[in-house]
Amino acid sequence: MPVHLISHPVARALLTQLRDKQTPSPLFRQYAQRLSVLIATEAMRDLPTEAITVETPLGPAEGARIASDVVVVPVLRAGLGMLEAVLSVVPHARVGHIGLQRDEATAVASQYYAKFPAGLDNSEVVLIDPMLATGGSAVASLQLLAARGARHLRLLCIVAAPEGIAEVERHMPHVQIYTSAIDSHLNEHKFIVPGLGDFGDRLFGTM
Ligand code: PRP
Ligand code: URA
Repeated sequence: MPVHLISHPVARALLTQLRDKQTPSPLFRQYAQRLSVLIATEAMRDLPTEAITVETPLGPAEGARIASDVVVVPVLRAGLGMLEAVLSVVPHARVGHIGLQRDEATAVASQYYAKFPAGLDNSEVVLIDPMLATGGSAVASLQLLAARGARHLRLLCIVAAPEGIAEVERHMPHVQIYTSAIDSHLNEHKFIVPGLGDFGDRLFGTM
């Protein structure tokens, strides 16, 4: 399973700001959006296009438009921090939602919500969740999407742990992962080290 690491200098600088525990929520949101645009742009590199012709003020110009249907699925809550950015890259996308929450003691994720647009089987399905830690949330989400018919799946995250990557690879070997960092390991509370802390709390100011 290929893991695509987005290591552009601008991405690395934005990620560093996100990691900094001094970064307050309003700036954290802005940096998350800007970094997500870079990740999404790279993740959409292989989308099929079709040729079109437009009229410039000086005459016809050959161009392209994205030919495939795209469905973006944020994992609530933290995935919402990437949604507007991904939609700015693929404005024609439709949006589904999955609500998952990790138990603070066991780190096992349980589902509290799911709603998807019709026709997942003919869409490029883009799961967005900034933190890939144990991989439990990602695998549960990907399996749910596959059970609802999704065949072309990719996962966009901001920080991934090796344990989470291995878990996705074990259960969903065909899913491409796009991330701006592969960190060292998980701590005893299943948080990513060095990571950036609790993404959802920092995004929404619920620390
Ligand atoms: C975080 C994060 C992922 C999940 C990753 O969500 O946004 O969804 O943990 O951990 P995992 O790989 O071990 O499953 P959390 O459950 O804290 O919920 P939140 O988004 O509502 O804060
Ligand atoms: N969820 C987070 O927000 N951060 C982690 O490090 C792990 C899971």
